[in-house]
Amino acid sequence: MKVLAFSGSLRTGSWNEQLLAIAVKGLLARGVEVDAWNFKAANIPVYDPDTSDANPPAAMVDFKARVRGATGLLIACPEYNYSYPGALKNLIDFASRPPEQNPFKGRVSAQLGATNGPGGTLQAQVMLRHVLSALGCHTLPGAFTVSRVSEALDAQGLKDERQKKNLDGFLDRFVDELKLRSR
Ligand SMILES: Cc1cc2nc3c(=O)[nH]c(=O)nc-3n(C[C@H](O)[C@H](O)[C@H](O)COP(=O)(O)O)c2cc1C
Repeated sequence: MKVLAFSGSLRTGSWNEQLLAIAVKGLLARGVEVDAWNFKAANIPVYDPDTSDANPPAAMVDFKARVRGATGLLIACPEYNYSYPGALKNLIDFASRPPEQNPFKGRVSAQLGATNGPGGTLQAQVMLRHVLSALGCHTLPGAFTVSRVSEALDAQGLKDERQKKNLDGFLDRFVDELKLRSR
């Protein structure tokens, strides 16, 4: 049972990377193997239908193999203009081609999101879920999201006990679903 974990942020010091790291710790504590993938380091180019399918960059070939090799995906996703970042859409679109090799089909996806705003990335999560389910992912209902994140996190992780409990419950549900799908 392996989970590919990555964030949809390219920002150094990303809140979503920080939230992802907390959730990854929780998965490891539950005995789940985690493949942590660095989106920024992969430097994925813009998908171009004229050239990308015939000649994908090594980083994309590697990413697709990692998706295929995982039972689940854990994605921490920022909100940009009430949606999710274009860079993440480009990554998913690129990896989804050609359709007969779509690696997302059959994976279990779980979504996280952090923002310093009040909305907790909820609108981004809805749109990300829409795309993942179109690609055949079994999307875990709900998302673990954090608003006003600069107040919610410190070096030790989430400060609020109720939020910690919510994350625990979310990860438990994810692991249950991973177990079901890896039978
Ligand atoms: C182009 C752009 C649009 C944004 N739109 C939203 C938004 O709609 N809702 C929101 O909560 N934050 C929005 N933000 C603020 C991001 O939540 C903030 O930059 C956050 O730090 C991004 O996550 P990260 O720290 O993981 O990179 C926007 C930021 C950018 C750069």
